Amino acid sequence: MRKKIVAGNWKMNLDLEGGRKLATGICEKISENPLETLPGKPEVVFFPPYVFLTEVVKAAEGTSGVSAGSQNIHQLEKGAYTGEVAAPMVKSCGATHTLVGHSERRAYFHEDNALLAKKVEQALNHGLIPVYCCGEVLPEREAGKHFEVVKEQIVNGLFWLKQEAFEKVIIAYEPVWAIGTGVTASPEQAQEMHAFIRKVVGEKYGLQTAEHVSILYGGSCNAQNARELFSQPDVDGGLIGGASLKAPDFLAIIQSF
Ligand code: PGA
Repeated sequence: MRKKIVAGNWKMNLDLEGGRKLATGICEKISENPLETLPGKPEVVFFPPYVFLTEVVKAAEGTSGVSAGSQNIHQLEKGAYTGEVAAPMVKSCGATHTLVGHSERRAYFHEDNALLAKKVEQALNHGLIPVYCCGEVLPEREAGKHFEVVKEQIVNGLFWLKQEAFEKVIIAYEPVWAIGTGVTASPEQAQEMHAFIRKVVGEKYGLQTAEHVSILYGGSCNAQNARELFSQPDVDGGLIGGASLKAPDFLAIIQSF
C-alpha cells in the first residue's frame, strides 16, 4: 500500500516563535489522536523556512509519523554559493524530506527541469526524500497542454533515475492556477491528472512501482475540500500551503482520509 501524506508548505511565512508554536500545537493534538489510529494512517511533513528547520524537527520529535523537510536545496553539495543551502546541511538538521521544483521556484527563480533533476539527485545522495512538484499554468491548461507539460516535467526531472532511486520519490501535482488562488482543481480534474501521472510512471518503471508512488495534490486544498479530493483513488494526500498555517485547519485536513 502506498503512503498517505499531508505536507504543510509554510513558504515564507511565520517567525521562529510562530513556527515553533504551530508545529508544537499540531504535534500535541496528533499525540492525543495518533496518526496510526486515523483512517488512511497518514504521515505528516512540515516544510518550514530553513531557519526554523531545527526547531520544527525538535517540535516533531517523539510524535510518531511527523517529520520535517526543507522547501528547497541547492543543486551542489557545498561551496562558494553565498546565501544557498545544501542537502547535507538540511539533513544534518534532522530533516527527512525536501521539496523540489515548487512552482514558485520554477516561476520566480527560473528553475527548470534540468536543474531540478540535479536537486533530486542531491536530495537522494544525502538521504532526503524529494517531493517533486509539477503542474501546469492556466494558459497551458486552456490550450489543452496540461498533460504534455506535466509529463515533460516528470520525464526530465525524474525519469533518469534508476528504479530503486525513483521508488523513494514523492510526487506533488500542483496546478499553478490553483495555488494560493482559492480556486481548487475539481476532484475529477485532480483524479484525471493523478491517474495520468501514475500511468506515465507505470510505462517507465512498471505497474508495481506506479502503484507504490505517493502522488499528492496541492493548490487551495483546505479543510472543506480535502475529503473529496483525498477520496479520489489516485490522490494520496496533499501539499498544503495557506491552510497549513492554521493548526485547526491542518488538523482537519489530516483527518480527511
Ligand atoms: P496553497 O499552496 O494551498 O496555498 O494553494 C499550495 C502550495 O503551493 O504548495
